[in-house]
Amino acid sequence: MVYTVLLPAAGSGKRMGAGQNKLFLELRKVPILIHTLRAFEQDQKCQEIVLAVKKEEQAFIEKLLAEHQITKVVAITEGGAERQHSVYACLKASPSKGILLVHDAARPFIRQEVIHRLVQVAEEFGAAVAAVRAKDTMKKVENGIIQETVDRDSLWIIQTPQAFKYDVLEQAERLAEKEGFLGTDEAMLVERLGEHVHIVESTYDNVKMTTQEDLLFGEVILTKREQ
Ligand code: C5P
Repeated sequence: MVYTVLLPAAGSGKRMGAGQNKLFLELRKVPILIHTLRAFEQDQKCQEIVLAVKKEEQAFIEKLLAEHQITKVVAITEGGAERQHSVYACLKASPSKGILLVHDAARPFIRQEVIHRLVQVAEEFGAAVAAVRAKDTMKKVENGIIQETVDRDSLWIIQTPQAFKYDVLEQAERLAEKEGFLGTDEAMLVERLGEHVHIVESTYDNVKMTTQEDLLFGEVILTKREQ
């Protein structure tokens, strides 16, 4: 049960307002990107990592990898204008045709148990995504007015990792590109094939570093884990 990670890291992180790629921001003096890479570097079941980066950031990232002794990155490819394009670029550069795990480089706190469960379910059924249950009351709103209260029991918040058999993801990406379809995650592309995408229950601390306040959560999570 081994897997390959596709790690899109070619974003700009405008919502963070850091004026640089947010993945270079540090939590406990270590860049977010390195925290994420370490989760896979330390997992024996992770065979290799494929990174998508901005061309102008490649040299700096290679330096970071060497500095922090990240050895599993086997390919660094150029990312695209949208996240989906960066993931597709990773897939094309993947030396493996086994289980592929797509993970946002901006989610540094992913747990090994969740990764392993995802790989297991993807191996059995073809596609699996990490998700948590919606905790709050959910309502559909239009023009500032509530239209309906949505049944919370059927709502899940979708995260990455998302794990797929190679053929499933490859077909989904190819179809999306052909039809000019842009999704917000890989599961959306696979759903369009009519494939079942399974949910694997994840944890609420698998946060994506998106805005400044997420950095605060990040520091707290790291402190707690070190105790
Ligand atoms: O912006 P957001 O945090 O949603 O992006 C999720 C992940 O996708 C990040 O790790 C980011 O670096 C990556 N990304 C990318 N190429 C893009 C946009 C985002 O690799 N064009």
